[in-house]
Amino acid sequence: MQNELDKIRAEALAATTTASSIEEVEEIRIQYLGRKGALTQILRSLGNIPPEERSSVGKLSNRYKVEIETAIEEKRTSLSRTGSEELVRKQWIDVTLDAPAATTQERLGRIHPISQIQYEIEDILTSMGFEIHDGPEVETDYYNFEALNIPKHHPARDMQDTFWTEDGNLLRTHTSAIQVRAMEKVKPPFRVVGPGRVFRYESTDASHENTFYQVEGMMVDRDITVSHLIYVMKKLLQEIFHRDVAVRLRPGYFPFVEPGFELDIHCLICDGAGCSVCKQSGWVELLPCGLVHPNVLRMGGINPDEWSGFAFGLGLNRLAMMKYGINDIRHFLSGDIRFLKQF
Ligand code: DAH
Repeated sequence: MQNELDKIRAEALAATTTASSIEEVEEIRIQYLGRKGALTQILRSLGNIPPEERSSVGKLSNRYKVEIETAIEEKRTSLSRTGSEELVRKQWIDVTLDAPAATTQERLGRIHPISQIQYEIEDILTSMGFEIHDGPEVETDYYNFEALNIPKHHPARDMQDTFWTEDGNLLRTHTSAIQVRAMEKVKPPFRVVGPGRVFRYESTDASHENTFYQVEGMMVDRDITVSHLIYVMKKLLQEIFHRDVAVRLRPGYFPFVEPGFELDIHCLICDGAGCSVCKQSGWVELLPCGLVHPNVLRMGGINPDEWSGFAFGLGLNRLAMMKYGINDIRHFLSGDIRFLKQF
């Protein structure tokens, strides 16, 4: 019996020493110490051994069991240590090292051309004393239409078809709604500017999108005239295009201004000679504007006998297209990296 025990011990210890993986060690444990393991069998059968041998065989088996268990445990620890050391060695990276220059360039984000132009306009206008205001993209009928002198059933609503929510609100069709919100917050005299995203129920093509961007501007003071309007508009456009621009005003109808204008600029692509961008006219329609309608001031809580103002709504997509020579408005929201990388 003793011989058999010695043999089991020797085999188990030898196998443990040469094992090269944790799985292998586990197999050895099952083979010798598992429920049907060699050593376990002997310990179970102690009852069948003559009583005079039983105690010594029992003691020896237990001693060997502990010995094998200890060897297995040590082996397991050492294997898992070398395992993780190996992992660390193989997968080591120097996190303090700079990524190669080319890769960094690739991964740098860019500011979208619309945002670039928006920030630029904000800078120019704030330098002229305008304060930036904001408003929600889901608007009420009141802010988007009513308070802008566009009552229900007014035909001007047809020009700005939009998406309605089930509770009677709408995706704002223009940033003019921000004018109304601003008038509720500030007292005249004031100059405010409201950039934002606007929506129209529109089928898309190279010059139409259902989602686009505008910057609204409004100045209210005493005795504001069309000259103030022209001066600020010219200054703004000169700063944006970094050159002198010729402008002209044509009458334009917007219910919230009187008189209302379409401000055109001399085409920057052909310098007025005529090209496909200006449809051979030499002029590009860029900036609707006008003097704020007395009804609008009144609804904003401002006395039109005391105050007057001008307002304008600049389309950022059109402007970015002019400035960068972009020929399709759908590029802006395409999410196409090749397009975005150019700015
Ligand atoms: N809200 C108008 C539109 O989206 C643009 C506009 C015209 C804004 C005249 C103005 C303005 O402030 O005075 O079509």
